[in-house]
Amino acid sequence: MFEHLERLPEDPILGLSAACKADSNPDKIDLTVGVYKDESGLTPVFEAVKLAQEALTHDEITKAYIAQAGDPDFNRGIQELLLGADNPALVDGRVSSVQTPGGCGGLRIAAELIKAANPAAKVWVSSPTWPNHIPLISSVGLEITEHRYYNPESHTVDFEGMIADLGNAAAGDVLLLHGCCHNPCGADLNQEQWQAVAELCAERGLIPFIDIAYQGLGAGLEEDAQGLRKMVAAVPEVVIASSCSKNMGLYRERTGATVFIGRDADNADIVKTQGMKAARKIYSMPPAHGAILAGRVLTDDKLGQLWRTELAAMCDRLNGVRGLLDEKLSEATGKDFSFIRHENGLFSFLGLSKEQVDRLREEFSIYMVGSSRVNVASVNDANVDYLAAAVAKVL
Ligand code: LMR
Repeated sequence: MFEHLERLPEDPILGLSAACKADSNPDKIDLTVGVYKDESGLTPVFEAVKLAQEALTHDEITKAYIAQAGDPDFNRGIQELLLGADNPALVDGRVSSVQTPGGCGGLRIAAELIKAANPAAKVWVSSPTWPNHIPLISSVGLEITEHRYYNPESHTVDFEGMIADLGNAAAGDVLLLHGCCHNPCGADLNQEQWQAVAELCAERGLIPFIDIAYQGLGAGLEEDAQGLRKMVAAVPEVVIASSCSKNMGLYRERTGATVFIGRDADNADIVKTQGMKAARKIYSMPPAHGAILAGRVLTDDKLGQLWRTELAAMCDRLNGVRGLLDEKLSEATGKDFSFIRHENGLFSFLGLSKEQVDRLREEFSIYMVGSSRVNVASVNDANVDYLAAAVAKVL
């Protein structure tokens, strides 16, 4: 029966990264997949994670399944990281979570919860959004609708357009927000805009669904959670998908969570049972290794401090590269790239056409997603001049 299946095209992000790996040009640059890289192009293992792993190797006595909701230290640690330990929702016990296989697992379980609670809910997503949001969320049978978000002319958030479009949302609809470091455009809501969206959700009965996969890589761990915390303060029910791929470097360990803030403790607990049931029917149990490591880092003072220091250094490097990119691109092209400085996290659009992106790949072995999204972490002192000169040639 399988002979009728058609070969599918490559993934628009992962396929390009594979093509870059296969390219023999020594000057090639891979600006595709969103992984942090240091100045030498390495995606390092955090020292804090290594230490936790060494200890775990030593004291782990079983590989039996962990709890259905995942590692308790991890779940508590993630809740506190997102909300702040003294958040009233946490103090009131209105928060529950299930550990998931990566942030994608977190999104999927969140989508299952939404579908179970309100199958007619439309999920509003920013235009553009991370391409994988669409299949991940729609595969549970939820309808997806776009609202305006990024203005490619001004390289800023089209906030008026966003609010106008959300005027068409119905009570019970869901608004998917990027907690920080918007993927793909890097342009985030400012704090006033977060407050306004929070008030809109409260007034109109919209359910915020926050995907936060880059906490700590925009302005800092606390700063990057401020919008999310505003939302939790203003709206009685919030669903969050969180990931430790980028901010703890646990990419391949698939370490994430679905976190739910409910109207009361009982409701939060009920929703957790739904999350566990949804997981059971898809992959049964969460993976243990990454979450146990993250749980140890989050609950051990020494490891936690080391991790925060390492993460802050990464964040500083990213913001430094943003400045460097602006300087070199503006100088080489005579155009204004200062918007890159004002965007956050791993991504920005360079504002190139599909043809220009293709030329960069074919003539210069510079690989980026078709939308001209670049992973700024892949830029360093050694490759920035080559990149800037190539962009100037195709412009
Ligand atoms: C990205 O957007 O590049 C990352 O989130 C990795 C992925 O899975 O696409």
